[in-house]
Amino acid sequence: MGNVFVLDHPLIQHKLTYIRDKNTGTKEFRELVDEVAALMAFEITRDLPMEETTIRTPVVEAKTKVLAGKKIGLVPILRAGLGMTEGILRLIPAARVGHIGMYRDPETMQPVEYYIKLPSDIEERELIVIDPMLATGGSANDAIHSLKKRGAKQIRLMCLIAAPEGVEVIKEEHPDVDIYLAAMDEKLDDHGYIVPGLGDAGDRLYGTK
Ligand code: URA
Repeated sequence: MGNVFVLDHPLIQHKLTYIRDKNTGTKEFRELVDEVAALMAFEITRDLPMEETTIRTPVVEAKTKVLAGKKIGLVPILRAGLGMTEGILRLIPAARVGHIGMYRDPETMQPVEYYIKLPSDIEERELIVIDPMLATGGSANDAIHSLKKRGAKQIRLMCLIAAPEGVEVIKEEHPDVDIYLAAMDEKLDDHGYIVPGLGDAGDRLYGTK
């Protein structure tokens, strides 16, 4: 069964408070989301495999460690996922970035993938799917199915805030996917917003309404 990790580092939690605050404006909101994404990337990459190498310091020859070459791919779900991508890239600059855009047809309720562009070697990469608000879990679930259909083998899901309903959907449908959150909130309201949440992440990132 996939694990759920709530990253309760004090810096993440402090910044998340200001992200949630409705009086935080677009510029500051975007900066804070970017900072939290970088801090989360630091925590998420803790278990990346390492290998030994030998180098010469100015003093002696030394055996030290480097990443064991596991290639990373980031896959932000449009559009709010974009707000976390640059922050993660600052820590993992060699990561490739795929993009996926999905919506649910209101009549058929079937997922419609309106945009997808991925690195050609996704089956060899450890993919981090980025969806800031895991509400019903619909988009993340559809995006992960879509990536698996195209050959992805190792996927992690990174969100700012989740509702229990969304987490259950991912655990049920993708028991192989670990979920990383900055916070697990109480519930969804009747309009599908996470409570207490932060409102619409895309609108707050990009100043739209
Ligand atoms: N998407 C958002 O941006 N916010 C929510 O609360 C739920 C889904």
